Amino acid sequence: MRNIKFFDTTLRDGEQSAGVNLNLQEKLEIARQLERLRVDIIEAGFPASSKGDFEAVKQIAETVRTCSVTGLSRSVRSDIDAAWEALKGGAEPRLHLFIATSPIHMVHKLRMTPEQVIEAAVEAVKYAKRFFPIVQWSAEDACRSELPFLAKIVAEVIKAGASVINIPDTVGYITPKEYGEIFLYLQNNVPNIENVSLSAHCHDDLGMAVVNSLSAIEHGATQVECTINGIGERAGNAALEEIAVALHIRKDYYQVETRLNLQEIKRTSNLVSKLTGVVVPPNKAVVGKNAFAHESGIHQDGVLKEKTTYEIISPELVGVPSNSMVLGKHSGRHALRNRVEELGYTLSDEEINQLFVRFKELADKKKDITDDDLIALIFEEKFDHFKDFYQLSSIQVQYGTNQIPTAVVVLKDGKGNEIQEAATGAGSVEALYNTLERCFQTEVTLLDYRIESVGGGRDALAQVFVKVRVHDIETSGRGTAQDVLEASAKAYINAMNRVFMIEAMRAENEKVATS
Ligand code: KIV
Ligand code: ZN
Repeated sequence: MRNIKFFDTTLRDGEQSAGVNLNLQEKLEIARQLERLRVDIIEAGFPASSKGDFEAVKQIAETVRTCSVTGLSRSVRSDIDAAWEALKGGAEPRLHLFIATSPIHMVHKLRMTPEQVIEAAVEAVKYAKRFFPIVQWSAEDACRSELPFLAKIVAEVIKAGASVINIPDTVGYITPKEYGEIFLYLQNNVPNIENVSLSAHCHDDLGMAVVNSLSAIEHGATQVECTINGIGERAGNAALEEIAVALHIRKDYYQVETRLNLQEIKRTSNLVSKLTGVVVPPNKAVVGKNAFAHESGIHQDGVLKEKTTYEIISPELVGVPSNSMVLGKHSGRHALRNRVEELGYTLSDEEINQLFVRFKELADKKKDITDDDLIALIFEEKFDHFKDFYQLSSIQVQYGTNQIPTAVVVLKDGKGNEIQEAATGAGSVEALYNTLERCFQTEVTLLDYRIESVGGGRDALAQVFVKVRVHDIETSGRGTAQDVLEASAKAYINAMNRVFMIEAMRAENEKVATS
């Protein structure tokens, strides 16, 4: 059986989704989880694009040991130099070079002739080969390129040293049959193509990213590029979990294998959804909440008699937990640490100690602490804590059906200074958010506000997600508390801390650029 490599680009193409801004800690946690999932290659970012991306790629390359870590690079020496600096500490450094090859992109975006594009591509691959043992080359907008030109440039970059050739459907335009034909065309028209790996990279604008990737595999691709939950630019990329499970369940048809640990799929999907704030639709294949729920009486009856009547994928295959472990107020630090590790999170001793305090506080108010509660607390402790920025000290909100809702908020900034403000609004949340806007002294547009409970029961934790826009920055935030208003305040502050972090990183980039 052929082996198919999974190239995960959640941290690069996925992070390009509107409103997704992951911080360093969050990216590292996702990278560690991708390593547990046993993807072959992690695309950790675009090192030359910003100081933050550079640092994230470098740390991920130095942390991850059992996957190859790569970074994106335009076909220019300065990008390649930055990528090498970021990736050289990796277990198997590889570079992902790209340049556009379609007439639309070459004429309007690059303003280069086809000959100039070939020259730039070849020169970039040769330069990259001085440093990187593995160079992957991508023809951006390959699917709207002229095939003879595509074959010509692919032949030249192979000659120059590229060992992986990626054929992206950048705009999500191709159909499965046509995509397969491109792979066949290249195999029949490019000398030495049998010595390189062919890779598929599909976007989902017409809803065909997964099926196009599968078609590429049927027509000779040995690598697929995809993201967890299919997040990515515009309509997103091909969803890793869907391709992986299709290849597994229909092994009889595809006749390929992978090295993925499918049991890590659900956990990876949850982690990415929580950290990015991109919700997984309930009916999403493989990882949606309803993917294994049988609703109609006839189906339920069938499944009770024999699972395979209506169930082609078992929830256990992708690691959907069959029951959730419950901790309570008598559980000790040891039990907590064990459970945290079983859930797949890596916490330092100090983080475990802090978590234990939060756990005890919650256990005083709530009888059973489920895995979902614990995960919510871990997120609060590990990812939502911006030590150098703002923290909530207290809120007080007054609401009555015949009163004007009023909120008073006290915040602490990174230096420990207190900021106190009060404001009114049409409702409690609006009063709270008007007050916070005053605290931050900047105009904030609230683009989205979502509230959900962590598990069931009246004493369940509330989890709030917000999306905000401040000037040209769009980002999301989340907050968890037993009270919905406190969770709402935390989510807003979390989003604002991300805005300040992005502004600080931009200022830092400008400083580097002008020095
Ligand atoms: O979609 C695309 O073309 C890309 C390339 C940079 C590989 O993401
Ligand atoms: Zn892409």
